[in-house]
Amino acid sequence: ATEIKVGLAGFGNVGKGTYDILERNHSLIRQRAGAPISVKRVTVRNVDRVKLLVDEDVIVTNDWHDLVNDPEVNVVVEAMGGIEPAKSLILAAIDAGKHVVTANKALLAEHGNEIFSAAQAKGVNVAFEAAVAGSIPIVKALREGLAANRVSSIAGIINGTCNFILSTMRDTGRSFDDVLKEAQRLGYAEADPTFDIEGTDSAHKLMLLSAIAFGVPVDMSKVHIEGITHLEAKDIKFAEELGYRIKLLGITKYTDYGIELRVHPALVPTRRLLANVEGAMNAVVVKGDAAESSLYYGKGAGSEPTGSAVVADLIDIARTAEVAVSERPRMPTTTHNPKAKSFA
Ligand code: NDP
Ligand code: HSE
Repeated sequence: ATEIKVGLAGFGNVGKGTYDILERNHSLIRQRAGAPISVKRVTVRNVDRVKLLVDEDVIVTNDWHDLVNDPEVNVVVEAMGGIEPAKSLILAAIDAGKHVVTANKALLAEHGNEIFSAAQAKGVNVAFEAAVAGSIPIVKALREGLAANRVSSIAGIINGTCNFILSTMRDTGRSFDDVLKEAQRLGYAEADPTFDIEGTDSAHKLMLLSAIAFGVPVDMSKVHIEGITHLEAKDIKFAEELGYRIKLLGITKYTDYGIELRVHPALVPTRRLLANVEGAMNAVVVKGDAAESSLYYGKGAGSEPTGSAVVADLIDIARTAEVAVSERPRMPTTTHNPKAKSFA
């Protein structure tokens, strides 16, 4: 195992959750990883705010180059969000031979091909469990637990904010805007919440899941996207009266014509498991030829649930880093289907 010194970019919901877990469970994590994992540096905009929240030996600056230029930092955790400077940071970290852990599904969905190619060329890992479905280890499940399967479809609730809005509106009759504000307060929503409510965030995650399951390159132009902004309280009420719940679903399927990718609200019969996934919980159903149907359920958003996935990736890197540099990096591809080259 390799000692990990983390350069942490971003100390908002995800960055702070990651830091707090590493501090609180330090000995346990050291035992499981086989070596200590600690944060050496943090980069944020507001340095003074964060200095009050971390140990005094953690160096806090507002220039991301500091993470890349520190030779002791061997893993960069990107928890800033957005495209720039996150993309430049990740590419520079890869170029410097550092492993990367990111929660940034928007960046990977838009620029994943470039980032994973760069990582492969350098022999470093870009791990992104936190980018899809928060605390649920769905990336690991697809790559490891279900590695023997030809996956035929993945469907689920993969945006905590939208699910929180839809279930809270149904339970309390509160307005869309009011509940969205609460989701923002609770740290579930994206910095720009239109990504959540217009379905874009679900589409980013779906694209990543599809890339892992079907080995297709990431290409957002292939995803049909419809969010929840046009839904009204009365839609939710009428659906309930008819025995359905409205859920924002992400669905990707292998078909004879290519890979189908779609995000849209759907009427789910109340008796079905997915209909009963409430609040910021996520659930993903994977169908494989051998395992048949399997369901993964857990908190899909929030500070420590997401930090849990970031730290799991760090532990993985600590356990395997020595071999990882000479092995194929963990790309989002497990191509098993020669026909899965095009999209529907
Ligand atoms: P926040 O807005 O809470 O935190 C963002 C952090 O990044 C802040 O500390 C901010 O600094 C810092 N930051 C932003 N831009 C810059 C910059 N240019 N230079 C330096 N620091 C910068 O976001 P979240 O923690 O909620 O989300 C972070 C990432 O994780 C996003 O990619 C998001 O999609 C993803 N994610 C979020 C989840 C969640 O539940 N919130 C779940 C899964 C993934 P400062 O503090 O100074 O403003
Ligand atoms: N905004 C996202 C959500 C965060 O609500 O699901 C987790 O990816």
